[in-house]
Amino acid sequence: MRIGIFGTGGMADALGTHWARAGHEIRVAGRKTGTWREVAAFADVVLLAIPSSAIGEVLAQAGPLTGKVLVDCTNDPALTGTPVASRIVTEAHVVKAFNLAHVDIWRMNPPVFDGRPLSVPLCGDDPAALETVSTLVRDIGARPVRAGGLSRAALLEATAAFAIGLWFAGEDAQAILAPLG
Ligand SMILES: NC(=O)c1ccc[n+]([C@@H]2O[C@H](COP(=O)([O-])OP(=O)(O)OC[C@H]3O[C@@H](n4cnc5c(N)ncnc54)[C@H](OP(=O)(O)O)[C@@H]3O)[C@@H](O)[C@H]2O)c1
Repeated sequence: MRIGIFGTGGMADALGTHWARAGHEIRVAGRKTGTWREVAAFADVVLLAIPSSAIGEVLAQAGPLTGKVLVDCTNDPALTGTPVASRIVTEAHVVKAFNLAHVDIWRMNPPVFDGRPLSVPLCGDDPAALETVSTLVRDIGARPVRAGGLSRAALLEATAAFAIGLWFAGEDAQAILAPLG
């Protein structure tokens, strides 16, 4: 796949490194390169790895993403209650993914815990885009989980906010979601 990454920080590096290793062609755009439009034109899939507050401005500079897959891993620190993905005005097929785990988890190769691969929930409306992002999840050694349509992306963002709050309070978020069986 041809993957364009918007952002040059931790998430761009962690996920981009996996996908380059898996054989995908990667191009990166950032404020210092200013190549949003070129990278958007190159890519079949675009990863948004920038602050949620910058999405509107960056997508305006990138131009149309018609028919492309737009992977939104952002979390809104202001917690406005409205999922970022649903505020994006774009012709792209948006898939919310990769927002739940810390960047250090995304750097693991592979991200496996007690023999269980990390599960990565995906929210999106387009079946082909969901299949594409599922492949990208498997490419990092994790397991994709279909978590419903894009309208449920708000739940993923709220879950991230809740879990991050627990981690910062020193609590074990994983223990709260203990398995039934
Ligand atoms: N870090 C995590 O553990 C984690 C986990 C899951 C999801 N996320 C989400 O992933 C996204 C990226 O996080 P990150 O940890 O990779 O952040 P980061 O390391 O701080 O990198 C942010 C990137 O966004 C760029 N940027 C900042 N403000 C911008 C603006 N106004 N316009 C255009 N570009 C701008 C930065 O460019 P400069 O270098 O020029 O400042 C940098 O390339 C965030 O939305 C975050 O909520 C993060």
